[in-house]
Amino acid sequence: MRCAILTLFPDALRPYLDESILGIAQAQGKLRVDLVDFRNFAFDPHRTVDDRPFGGGPGMVLKPEPIFLAIEDVERTHGPFHKVLPCPRGRTFDQAKARELSQRERLLFLCGRYEGYDERIREGFAWEEVSLGDFVLAGGELAALCMLEAAVRLIPGVLGCAESAVLESFEGEWLDHPQYTRPREFRGRHVPDVLLSGDHAAVARWRHERARHLTAHKNRSDASTDPTNPTP
Ligand code: ADE
Repeated sequence: MRCAILTLFPDALRPYLDESILGIAQAQGKLRVDLVDFRNFAFDPHRTVDDRPFGGGPGMVLKPEPIFLAIEDVERTHGPFHKVLPCPRGRTFDQAKARELSQRERLLFLCGRYEGYDERIREGFAWEEVSLGDFVLAGGELAALCMLEAAVRLIPGVLGCAESAVLESFEGEWLDHPQYTRPREFRGRHVPDVLLSGDHAAVARWRHERARHLTAHKNRSDASTDPTNPTP
């Protein structure tokens, strides 16, 4: 996958992109990321990317020219991209969308800042508008990173264990079950006996039950209460 991220803050994104899964995918040659500072496509003396809204009102609006030029430049070099506009107006991101994005050969994110975009930017390209949820971020950068990471970890071969992307939360019917590792006791809290029992059927039943409970109680205050492992 080749990903172009249009942003005014490439230096803020670079360190995150170079770590962990996204860094590994790039080292594997399965991901290429181009950070495009669209201020480089503003050609007035002040390299202006935003301006006051016509009709008045607070804040600044991203101007169309630098963004059009940046996208046209990227596509001239690499060919057409599937274009994602992270914004609160969009359809809410989920695992199905992550899987869809993971199958794109070329993916472009436009990260806005300020009060919003000149509407002609929306009209000028075939955007898929995607929101992370019903809240407002100061810009699209964190949303683009979230969506990219969720997509890239689904590219075959990026995760160490091929199974782990399939077995976990949201791919099946239930959220993931709780996990424990050593030590067996930590500050008075014990690993549930069943996980130490060696009884594989009982372990499977326990995991299934806990996953079902977490799923049924998601967004409720008792979601993580485990009646089989009470707080000491
Ligand atoms: N940009 C600002 N708020 C956002 C949100 N909730 N989701 C995606 N992009 C955004």
